[in-house]
Amino acid sequence: MTKQSIHSFFRADHERLRGLFAEFQERKMTDFPAARRAFQGFAVGLRRHIVWEEEILFPLFEAKTGMKNGGPTHVMRLEHVDIRGYLSALEERVARGETDGGGTDSQLMQLLSEHDGKEEGILYPSIDMLIGADELAEAFRRIEAVAEPASGCSCCSG
Ligand SMILES: [Fe+2]
Ligand SMILES: [Fe+2]
Repeated sequence: MTKQSIHSFFRADHERLRGLFAEFQERKMTDFPAARRAFQGFAVGLRRHIVWEEEILFPLFEAKTGMKNGGPTHVMRLEHVDIRGYLSALEERVARGETDGGGTDSQLMQLLSEHDGKEEGILYPSIDMLIGADELAEAFRRIEAVAEPASGCSCCSG
């Protein structure tokens, strides 16, 4: 795990999460249980991704640059609030067995696409430039230590 950069690791996780969401969208009309499992993987993974960023990655950037309020991580944290909001709204729909995302699905994907693009374009490459090999190894050690959230989404329990 420690052989890769922050950029490559987090970009790969963005792609993995987008793939799970695409699987959910593709299968929800024909195989709802399978679609719901893909959605659960997406929801759990997205929440963990945000925890990695807010608790490990962003503090590194903030410590190195002195930029916190008003800086790029501040903007990313604000966008995470909206992302979590869309995710919870969609979770409620999936829990009710609804196949129609009611527009929340496209709003979430639109926001995630813009958000991920900014992180991949600016934030991750900056962090890779700012930290040394020891700090990179320590960051990955802490990333690995973050457990999956105890409860995933309410839609899949039971
Ligand atoms: Fe993010
Ligand atoms: Fe991200």
